[in-house]
Amino acid sequence: MTTTNQHDGAADGTSTAGPYREVLREAFVRRYEDGADSWSEEPAMRELVPLLCGELAAGSSVIDIGAGRGRDAELLLAAGHRVTAVDLVRLPDWDALARRYGAAASFEAGDFADMAAGRTYDAAVDNGVLHHQDPADYAQYLANVRRRLRPGGLLAVSLFTTAEELAEGVLNRAEDGRLSRWFNEREARELLSGAGFTVIAVRTVRRELPGLAYLLVLARRDA
Ligand SMILES: C[S@@+](CC[C@H](N)C(=O)[O-])C[C@H]1O[C@@H](n2cnc3c(N)ncnc32)[C@H](O)[C@@H]1O
Repeated sequence: MTTTNQHDGAADGTSTAGPYREVLREAFVRRYEDGADSWSEEPAMRELVPLLCGELAAGSSVIDIGAGRGRDAELLLAAGHRVTAVDLVRLPDWDALARRYGAAASFEAGDFADMAAGRTYDAAVDNGVLHHQDPADYAQYLANVRRRLRPGGLLAVSLFTTAEELAEGVLNRAEDGRLSRWFNEREARELLSGAGFTVIAVRTVRRELPGLAYLLVLARRDA
C-alpha cells in the first residue's frame, strides 16, 4: 500500500518513465550545481558500505549505482575492491578518484537503465537511488540490478524511512519534481524478494533530521 503526497502521476500505475527521468536528471544536476547535495556529507549515508564490506571477499567487483560524488566508491576502493560508478550527473570529484585508483576505478555518466548490458559484478550499491525512481519502474530497475550481479552477488540498498515504524509507505514529491518514497521494512523485504533477492540483513539508521532514518538492506541475488 502506498500513500501519495503532492504527487500526480506515477502512483496510479501509469509509467511516466520518459518525462520523469528528465525531471530527475535536471533536479540532481541543479542540486549538485547549487552545492545542495547534503547527502554527500551526511554521516548516516556512510553506514551502508561498511555493512556490505563485512560480507565481501577481498578484491571484489562492485557497481555503485547513482554514485554521486563517489563517497562510497572511495570507501570501497580504499578497502581494495574494484568499482564501476554510474550516475546521471558527471561530477568533478571523479577525476581525483580516477587518478588515485587507476584501473580499479571506472566512471560512467548516464542513467543506470541505459547502461550497456554485459559485465556482471560481485556486488551492487544503491545508496539513495531506488527510492527516487518512479514506483512504476521499480520492478524494471531491480531486474536491471539483478542482471548486473552474478548469482549469489550482493545488493546493498539504502531506502528512506522514518525513525518510528511506518504502517505503510509514503510517496512524496519535492518542488523540483523529484519523487521520494519512504518504505517500511515489510515493503522493502517484499520488493526485494519479488525481484529475485534473498534479504540477509536489515538495519535502521537514524538521521540527524528529526523523525527520519534510512533502512539499510543487504540482499543476495538468488541463483
Ligand atoms: C541521494 S543521491 C546519493 C548519491 C550517492 N549514492 C551517495 O551516497 O552520496 C542519489 C544519486 O543517484 C543519482 N541517480 C538517480 N537516479 C539515477 C539513475 N536512474 N541512474 C543513475 N544515477 C541516478 C543522482 O544523480 C544522485 O547522484
